[in-house]
Amino acid sequence: MSVAKEDSVKKVTTRHLVEMKQRGEKVSMLTAYDYSMAKLIDQAGIDVILVGDSASNVMAGNQTTLPITLDQMIYHATSVVKGVNHALVVVDLPFGTYQGNPLEALASAVRVMRETGADCLKLEGGSEIRESIERILCAGIPVMGHLGLTPQSIHKFGTYSVRAREEAESRKLVEDAHLLEEIGCCSLVLEKIPAALAARVASELTIPVIGIGAGGGVDGQVLVMHDMLGINQGFSPKFLRRYANIGDEIVRAVQAYVGDVKSRDFPNETEQY
Ligand code: KIV
Repeated sequence: MSVAKEDSVKKVTTRHLVEMKQRGEKVSMLTAYDYSMAKLIDQAGIDVILVGDSASNVMAGNQTTLPITLDQMIYHATSVVKGVNHALVVVDLPFGTYQGNPLEALASAVRVMRETGADCLKLEGGSEIRESIERILCAGIPVMGHLGLTPQSIHKFGTYSVRAREEAESRKLVEDAHLLEEIGCCSLVLEKIPAALAARVASELTIPVIGIGAGGGVDGQVLVMHDMLGINQGFSPKFLRRYANIGDEIVRAVQAYVGDVKSRDFPNETEQY
């Protein structure tokens, strides 16, 4: 009788993420916004692909995540899903599409799930959006929570600095994390909070807690792909590890191409019909 190996998992599900936490296996998660990149990182064995509303920054060049629309998120997510065989695909519900009322939240969620084929949604916030999350969960749609630095609230915070350093904010974050687990969220992202606080939350919850700038005591890590590959070169917070300098490589390759075109070196005889 053959024994199922971990890497024989065909398609990652939210249940697999909980099982990974139970056996102490860390969850790897990266963002992607298009078919080609999603295909590559899926081939590389990533567990979760997040179609993040950070697309607003790294794809559209906006200062914040607020301008991206539901239609634009659906466009990105549809492209990503086509490139993925293995990873769980999670999509951010964008600003203004779920905070107003639970029925609007459900309508936004149903559109994303129906039109993109994604597996799960991510929403920013705790008790303030409880009813919206519950309504989405009632429809059988898995929800990943997101606490700590929640970029859709940047105008309320006024800064992208570390959150929940103060007692009152850290107490609320712990309460919100428990609330999200109790109402049925399948996992939770903690962004830019002290490592000790993140580790405490991860140890108290049974759902996987995935951190970005939240230290190593959580159940997994997420980074924005354009940051970790060095494509987005103007962003270097302390928590970011760069695994490549693709931006430099693109500039070098394009300079070489421009030079070859100008010098008539490209195309040569073997590169024509
Ligand atoms: O939109 C995004 O990329 C995110 C990650 C930073 C977690 O929410």
